[in-house]
Amino acid sequence: MDKITIAIDGYSSTGKSTVAKQIAKTLGYVYVDSGAMYRAVTLYAIQNGLISKDDFNKEALIYQLDTIVLSFKFNESLGYAEVYLNGENIEHKIRTLEVSSYVSKVAAIAEVRQKLVAIQKRIGEDKGVVMDGRDIGTVVFPNAELKLFMTASAATRAERRYQELKARGDNVSYADVLKNVTERDYIDTHRKESPLVKAKDAIEVDNSNLTLEAQFEKILRLAKMTIEDGE
Ligand code: CDP
Repeated sequence: MDKITIAIDGYSSTGKSTVAKQIAKTLGYVYVDSGAMYRAVTLYAIQNGLISKDDFNKEALIYQLDTIVLSFKFNESLGYAEVYLNGENIEHKIRTLEVSSYVSKVAAIAEVRQKLVAIQKRIGEDKGVVMDGRDIGTVVFPNAELKLFMTASAATRAERRYQELKARGDNVSYADVLKNVTERDYIDTHRKESPLVKAKDAIEVDNSNLTLEAQFEKILRLAKMTIEDGE
């Protein structure tokens, strides 16, 4: 059975990564969280004093891009590859609200996008990949056989992310999470470089009122139909 490429784009906290992981596991495909790469570069910028509330030294970040080495190691128990920044597993550190508050600014830089898109394209060369992000169906894999565009209301998304952060033990307020979600939506859809838009041939999935199971079933059905169509 020929492998396909599945591109999942959408706004923040729409559950893209949850469903992408489930689909990849079921089909025996590789799951790639492209957002984790933008978060990793953001963590680097924070750790090296390049970005703070009042300042962002873009030139220095661009200059240092070559020294940022991202790698991925498959975690058997999780069933997907975790991201490493210069050899350190940073999966936990990149999910904080602090990283979320800067990541869209970092992701708007053309040089950052060029570097990460090149890595993403390389990982997807042999197909059999489910990748989620903002520009996967439009820029990274414009020829993906199946493209999905996930949406849900901002309040629903903020509530989901708030619960996620609380479950991790992070001390955050719902109001701050909602603010972050709406700010990132704005920056991601208005930036000059590869803004978040629905690809013409993407199927829109509004999951505001879908359970995780219903969403998984729906998307798995679409994936199987697409695979069969190609045979
Ligand atoms: O999981 P969540 O929806 O919060 O976001 P994410 O997928 O981890 O992505 C974090 C941020 O990285 C987004 O808000 C975008 O600014 C950026 N991003 C991007 O520009 N392009 C991608 N392909 C993936 C993420």
